[in-house]
Amino acid sequence: MIDKTSPIPIYYQLESYIKNQIEAGFILPGENIPSEREYAENYGISRMTVRQAINSLVNEGLLYRKKGSGTFVSEKKIEQPLQGLTSFTEDMQKRGMTPTSKLIHFEVIPANSFIANELKISEYAPVYEIKRIRLADGEPMALETNYLSANLVKGLTEEKVKASIYSYVEEKLGLRITHAEQMIESVRATDDHEKLLNIEKNHPMLYIQRNTFLHDGTPLELVRSVYRGDRYKFQIKMERN
Ligand code: GLP
Repeated sequence: MIDKTSPIPIYYQLESYIKNQIEAGFILPGENIPSEREYAENYGISRMTVRQAINSLVNEGLLYRKKGSGTFVSEKKIEQPLQGLTSFTEDMQKRGMTPTSKLIHFEVIPANSFIANELKISEYAPVYEIKRIRLADGEPMALETNYLSANLVKGLTEEKVKASIYSYVEEKLGLRITHAEQMIESVRATDDHEKLLNIEKNHPMLYIQRNTFLHDGTPLELVRSVYRGDRYKFQIKMERN
């Protein structure tokens, strides 16, 4: 499979080969790949070349290294479309995964000036502050903090937010969620994320802020989420006008 006479660089050939092996399911997520020495000996190439191929796959996120135990195949990333306003519950169910939430914090607090401004309510008006770990098939994916006006979203309880906020708002309150603005930034995992999401410190994360609105423009929620960067990628279709 390595053709030394080819103009294609050897590291790149090895990289494609390992990629194909993963895609074809010969090496599964969580399993480790052969060592640098094994690749070098089996294919008669230098360890430097092997390292270059592996580094490139680590940078791409397809492989990850664990100190002292080798290099492993990463879990497949969840490809999240950015068009369409959906909830975590819907996103996971669509994929055939089971969504659950672990409630960390649920409190009604007086809105500070920032939250009041985002939700277009008066300062000190009551807002729910809800912090949940969102899990897919039992695996923590994101940490989410929602702020919603308690005068708008009446009767929200701990039980209800452990299920789905959107389905409570739509099905029980009959409110129409129609649009949102979302911003995505890259951040590093903090101590809090490390503990709650079971990941390493400094792990790459995606910070997402969403402002969601009802059909008449009333702000429904301000959401600050931190998603695992190793498990998510976002996809959007674009058209040139
Ligand atoms: C996603 C969004 C959040 C939204 C949540 C509602 O996770 N990033 O902004 O609040 O969905 O999810 P659910 O209806 O499952 O509670």
